[in-house]
Amino acid sequence: MNVQQSKTAIIEFIKVNKIYPPDVIALRDVSLAIKPGEIVFLTGMSGAGKTTLLKLICAMEQPTKGLIEVAGHDLGRISLKNMQLVRQKIGMAYQDFKLLPKLTVYQNIAMPMEITFTPPKTIRDRINYLLDTLNLHGKADIKPDKLSRGEQQRVAIARAAANYPPILLADEPTGNLDRENSDLVIKLFAQLNRAGTTLIIATHDPVLYKSYPAQTLELSQGQFVFKDQATPKTATGE
Ligand SMILES: Nc1ncnc2c1ncn2[C@@H]1O[C@H](COP(=O)(O)OP(=O)(O)O)[C@@H](O)[C@H]1O
Ligand SMILES: [Mg+2]
Repeated sequence: MNVQQSKTAIIEFIKVNKIYPPDVIALRDVSLAIKPGEIVFLTGMSGAGKTTLLKLICAMEQPTKGLIEVAGHDLGRISLKNMQLVRQKIGMAYQDFKLLPKLTVYQNIAMPMEITFTPPKTIRDRINYLLDTLNLHGKADIKPDKLSRGEQQRVAIARAAANYPPILLADEPTGNLDRENSDLVIKLFAQLNRAGTTLIIATHDPVLYKSYPAQTLELSQGQFVFKDQATPKTATGE
């Protein structure tokens, strides 16, 4: 990894290890640098460490060893206030959705926008747009447990995308979707990326990662696999 990359990266890992107690090594010596506006697909078998890597970026988990920088902040030394600001820059669509069961679809999607004091009319317009775009028309007032898993997944994606986050992390975003709905998600991601969002998408769905001319980083047992010399130029491993 060269110094120039380090300076411009929006997300950087240097020799990051994550061990879940007592002894599960989820990531070992992972280094990467992702530039603003990039799309990176994170692939690899179940258990390879994809979800762990995404959770480290949004600080839901802490590394056992190594340095993680997000949007210019060292997550190991960041103040609480700056951590809140960094978190607001990240939209995360979780593999298990993490929708709030007592809130409606509308309220779930509104949450990140309310945290950043978005005016109610802007919130309403954005939610209506996202519901239309993701084929969730008529679901605004329903609680998550009344939705199919595919619908819940799209609500989680809508919530992650709501604030036009500079960084969007999506964990198996098409895991429960048919082709038609996957295409809608891909279109939304493409639109966000054109507007400048950096996307990191964990997936083993070839339809998804072949739909973009983007970098693919493969994890195996917590380490990146480099198949040939076409090593990614910016999302590098060491
Ligand atoms: N909270 C946890 N506690 C203990 N082990 C975990 C935890 N989360 C993940 N793991 C383990 O870490 C490894 C990587 O998991 P994960 O990051 O979820 O991989 P993937 O998303 O690629 O399926 C697996 O061996 C998994 O069992
Ligand atoms: Mg996972």
